[in-house]
Amino acid sequence: MEVIVLKDYEEMSKKAAEIVEETVLANEHAVLGLATGSTPVGLYENLIEGNQANRVSYKNVKTINLDEYLGLSKDHSQSYHVFMYEQFFKHIDIQLENTFIPNGTAEVPEEECARFEKLIDEKGPVNLQILGIGTNGHIAFNEPGTDPNSVTQVVELNESTREDNARFFENSEDVPTHAISLGLKTILKGEKIVLLASGKSKAEAVQRLLSKEVSIDFPASFLWNHSNVTLLIDEDAYSAVRAANAR
Ligand code: PGA
Repeated sequence: MEVIVLKDYEEMSKKAAEIVEETVLANEHAVLGLATGSTPVGLYENLIEGNQANRVSYKNVKTINLDEYLGLSKDHSQSYHVFMYEQFFKHIDIQLENTFIPNGTAEVPEEECARFEKLIDEKGPVNLQILGIGTNGHIAFNEPGTDPNSVTQVVELNESTREDNARFFENSEDVPTHAISLGLKTILKGEKIVLLASGKSKAEAVQRLLSKEVSIDFPASFLWNHSNVTLLIDEDAYSAVRAANAR
């Protein structure tokens, strides 16, 4: 795992955008694995700028998202479909039919999971996977305890995750209880993985990740089993490690 510590959120986002742009410039048909949440918003802003300045085109790029809330329709304001469209897709020259996100309102969610896993095998491999990390170490919605051999499945969100995400909803009880999430095995099939973490709220999770202990209690630790992972973090997210090193 390559660890790169950047000054702040802006620098982290810029560095992440550079890596995405290099990938797309090297392969105009690249398959990008994309994430939602607060962390990648700055990355998407930088990519939009690069696209609008005609530096990089997404015309032939495919994107595959990590997860979607179960029960939220594609036009629900807090669905990841709307997030991706508003934060990224509507601003760039990507073809929407080349963007793939699990359907949170499929009649039989388990069938949707199987369809999505197959789709990843058909469209993939994902050349570059962008990931965030939850305060509890989740990646996508793979909560602590998730089988490292898991594929795309319906998952139950931990209470701490629902609390972390309550800020996006009007009422905390509106946060869905379940989601469709790519499994850990699915994510680790990505050729290159970039994990982003920013802010003091992620400092403990980053410290635990960098302890290198691989444990089912901390899903992000399975990234140690992958040979091409870059961790991009800002000083705040690195602060617990720095403090421990200074001791
Ligand atoms: P965040 O979420 O970017 O909103 O902090 C990260 C995650 O839960 O994976």
